[in-house]
Amino acid sequence: VADEAFLRGLPKTELHLHLEGSLEPELMFELAKRNQVTLPYDTVEDVKSAYNFTNLQSFLDIYYKCADVLRTEQDFFDLTYAYLKQCSIEGVVHVEPFFDPQTHTDRGIDIGIVFNGITKALEQGREEFGISYGLILCFLRHLSEEAAFDTLEQAKPYLDHIIGVGLDSSELGHPPEKFERVFKAARDLGLRAVAHAGEEGPTSYIENALERLKIERIDHGVQCTQSEQLMQEIADKQIPLTVCPQSNIRLKVYEKMEQHPILELLEKGLKVMVNSDDPAFFGGYVLQNYLSLAQALNMTREQAAQLAYNSISSSFCGEERMRTMI
Ligand code: ADE
Ligand code: ZN
Repeated sequence: VADEAFLRGLPKTELHLHLEGSLEPELMFELAKRNQVTLPYDTVEDVKSAYNFTNLQSFLDIYYKCADVLRTEQDFFDLTYAYLKQCSIEGVVHVEPFFDPQTHTDRGIDIGIVFNGITKALEQGREEFGISYGLILCFLRHLSEEAAFDTLEQAKPYLDHIIGVGLDSSELGHPPEKFERVFKAARDLGLRAVAHAGEEGPTSYIENALERLKIERIDHGVQCTQSEQLMQEIADKQIPLTVCPQSNIRLKVYEKMEQHPILELLEKGLKVMVNSDDPAFFGGYVLQNYLSLAQALNMTREQAAQLAYNSISSSFCGEERMRTMI
């Protein structure tokens, strides 16, 4: 079984991390004070006891409220920098974080404030910690296609700052095909494409995300276990799945980690890897996710090394950088 020192020492990337989901309660209180925002919680303990989720939507309702403390460029910088600092002590050498501009622009915050704060922190993280990056802009799928197009338009002056687009938020009832045209527009601008699919949603969402959104990686994707044929296709085509074990437990996709299928998927030859999703809400960054797998599923060093290798080979960082990570 892989131990902590081994797991920490493995060079890893993180390809499924929502920056807004890395907002720790302590920083949330600090920003609330700085920006004179009233939070529905009095203490860090209060916050932590509210983080008791029953499904994806029960989490999202709280997650969007917490994001209200993020107002200034400095706030977005502090959020992103804190995440990178954590990465630097966990052996994470490259990150492709998500952010949700609509969560902020819908509150009247200029997209430039969001972009500048995040990008300045990513640049500082690269200089200070040697962590390379590619930023991914996510469209909120509970909002309209038109709103997604509007966001893509607002992002045009900042296209140099992003490597791709993604799709997140409430999955059920918001199938990928709703965003077929905006994904095409984004790909035509030279952006890479990923999407959340098969977290809670059916296998048809995974199939349609691949066929109609033409994504290069599936975020979560664990519901592919419902279809032997789909699993085989994902394995044959080596389409990466950015799996988030702790998230799946906290959002009740599986009752306990012992039931998580990630190692079975790995053994079937699917290109799976380990990510933290929203670590401040789910109780652990990427290293903790690896540790949980070692504890609950007796993950071996070989399996851990393969997962870490998959995280590197699935990244958009380019071959030259990839070679320096292995
Ligand atoms: N936004 C933040 N975390 C998410 C998740 N796990 N699924 C969908 N949208 C999200
Ligand atoms: Zn996610």
